[in-house]
Amino acid sequence: MTDALDTCWRLLVRGAGDRRSPVHTPVVATTGPHGRPDARIMVLRGADRATASLRFHTDVRSPKCRDLDGAPACINAYHPGEAVQLRISGVCRLDHDGDRADAAWAASTPFGLRTYLTEAAPGTALAAPASGLPANIEGRAPTPDELVPARANFVVLMVTITRIDWLHLAQAGHRRLQLCCDEARNWQGQWLVP
Ligand SMILES: Cc1cc2nc3c(=O)[nH]c(=O)nc-3n(C[C@H](O)[C@H](O)[C@H](O)COP(=O)(O)O)c2cc1C
Repeated sequence: MTDALDTCWRLLVRGAGDRRSPVHTPVVATTGPHGRPDARIMVLRGADRATASLRFHTDVRSPKCRDLDGAPACINAYHPGEAVQLRISGVCRLDHDGDRADAAWAASTPFGLRTYLTEAAPGTALAAPASGLPANIEGRAPTPDELVPARANFVVLMVTITRIDWLHLAQAGHRRLQLCCDEARNWQGQWLVP
């Protein structure tokens, strides 16, 4: 069990720090209004074993944020080189004004933060294809002054992990382990038929 847990965290920490890792862009699945399932790719920005948490950044105006605070999410990543699927269950928290959000904002590049400058919320209907950015920002990185209004749209999504389903594909026989994490961050493993 310990080896698999170590592999999970190695892949997640690497995924958060290395844009070439396939774990850098997992699928984040949530349940929307009326139980409607939805899923989208998000960049994994942080992975912390001590708190069993993952960090993502998003636009607080986006539809996914509507019901996310305190809600469950499932995150799925596949690493083809290691033939490992990570199917992660957790509970979401949105941090809009706190120190964590300020630190994440400060550590991001102006170009990366440009997306939070769209004039209308993500998902707003447009008459023609467009980025939604103010015309004077189009095609370039904004200056720090130009970015000031975008801060209100930026939010950190933290997912506290409750379970990881680790699946390793191998010719000799697949292996599957369910790893459950309690509130004291103790992990329990259960082997499953793959
Ligand atoms: C490679 C890739 C990375 C993405 N990263 C993010 C991200 O970090 N945060 C985010 O909110 N959306 C990200 N998106 C866009 C989402 O997949 C999605 O289209 C958008 O957030 C709107 O989702 P919603 O309608 O469920 O709110 C990314 C899309 C791709 C293809």
